[in-house]
Amino acid sequence: MTKGLLIRGGRIIDPSQKIDGTGSLLIREGKIVWQAQGEFFPPGWENYNVLLVNGLVVCPGFIDFHCHLREPGFVAKETIATGIQAASKGGFTTICCMPNTDPPMDSEETIKYVKSKADKEKGVVVLPIGCVTVGRKGKTLVDMKALAKAGVAGFSDDGEPVKTAALMKEALVQSRELGLPVIDHCEEPVGGAPEGEERIVARDIKLAEKTGGWVHIAHVSTAGAVQSIRKAKAKGIKVTAEVTPHHLTLTKDAVKKYGTLAKVNPPLRTKRDVQALIQGLKEGVIDIIATDHAPHTAADKQGDFASAAAGISGFETALSSLMGLVHSGALTMNEVIACLTIKPAQILGKQLGSLAVGMTADITVFDPDKEWTVNVKKFASKGKNTPLAGSVQRGKVLVTISAGEHFVWGG
Ligand code: DOR
Repeated sequence: MTKGLLIRGGRIIDPSQKIDGTGSLLIREGKIVWQAQGEFFPPGWENYNVLLVNGLVVCPGFIDFHCHLREPGFVAKETIATGIQAASKGGFTTICCMPNTDPPMDSEETIKYVKSKADKEKGVVVLPIGCVTVGRKGKTLVDMKALAKAGVAGFSDDGEPVKTAALMKEALVQSRELGLPVIDHCEEPVGGAPEGEERIVARDIKLAEKTGGWVHIAHVSTAGAVQSIRKAKAKGIKVTAEVTPHHLTLTKDAVKKYGTLAKVNPPLRTKRDVQALIQGLKEGVIDIIATDHAPHTAADKQGDFASAAAGISGFETALSSLMGLVHSGALTMNEVIACLTIKPAQILGKQLGSLAVGMTADITVFDPDKEWTVNVKKFASKGKNTPLAGSVQRGKVLVTISAGEHFVWGG
C-alpha cells in the first residue's frame, strides 16, 4: 500500500457537500479516504506525506465541458498532449473535447483514437464529444448509438449550429433515448448578430420541447438567450447551458484594444449582456462555466479581423479570470466552484466533482489572491492567443491532483 498524502490546513470548498471551511483531506491509492473540518487529523497522520496548504483553497478538480484539443488534424494549434498539460495547469482534471478536428469526430474510430491518445497522458481525463452530422456538414446524422457506445459525452457540430431544424429534431429524439445532450453552437452560421443567437436558441428550445430531447446551449452570450433559457426551464423543458470566462468578463470593447486576439465565436457582447450572463449564472439559469479553450497559431490570428481565426486559449487563465469576478463581488467563490465542479459532473452524469470520502482524488489547490503576469511563452498550450497576454491576474492554481497523483505548478 502506498503512503497516504494528507492535504492539511486549507480552505476546503466543496459545493457538493456544502462545505466551506478549514479542514484536511487524506488521499490514498487514488481515492479520498478521510476528510475532516477544523484541526482534526487522522490517526497516525505523522506517517503520511503532508501537503501544507494553509491560506489556499482546496476544491474538487475542475471539469470543462467544452474545449478544443485540435487533434487529429490541427497539431500546429494544439496536440492532445499539450492540451492536457495546459488543462492540468489550469486546475482541470476532466475535460470534454469538441469534434471540429480533421477528420471530424464522427466515427467510432476517431473517438477511439482520441481516447487512446488521451489515456496515455497523465493528469486529465478526456471525454470526447461526437459530431451530430457526418463531417459536421449538416446533411446526415452520425450513428449516434455507436458513438454513445464508444463513450462520447454528447453530440455537437460546434463551430456551427446543426444546419437544419429537421436534423436537429431527429438528433434530439435520439438524444432522449441515449440520455446524452445535443450541444448547440448558438449562432447563425455567419454573422454573429445577437438576434442570430437568439433565433437558434429559440429554434432548439422549441425542438427540445417537442421531442423531449436534451439540448445544451454552448457559450451563451446574449441577454436575450438567457431570457429564453430562463423561460424554457420554468416550463420544464430539458435545457442546460454554459457560459465562458471570456463572455463573463470581457465586452466588445476588448476588440478595439486587442484586435483579433479578442475575436471569438460567439462574439464578445455589451456590458448589459455580461450582466445578464452573471445574473443567469447566479439564478442557475446558466448551469456551468466552460472554457471553450480554442488554441490557434499566431499565423491563424494574423491579418484582418474578418478572416482571422476565432477563439481564445483559455485553460491557463480560466481560474484567474473568474477570480476577478469573485474579487469584484459579482460572483461568490462557491458559485464559481460549483459551476466548475459538481454542476458539470451532474451534466456528465458521472461520480465526479466532489471531495466526499470514497471519490477519486481529483483535487485542485489554488491561491485566490496570488498575483501573476500572464506570460504566454510559459503557456503549456501551443495556443498563445489570448487578450490577457501581459496582464496582471489575481488567483493562481498551484497544485492539481488527478486520481491521487499530484502536479505542482509553483508560483
Ligand atoms: O471562438 C471559437 N473558436 N468559437 C467556437 O465555437 C469554435 C472555436 C474554434 O474551434 O476555434
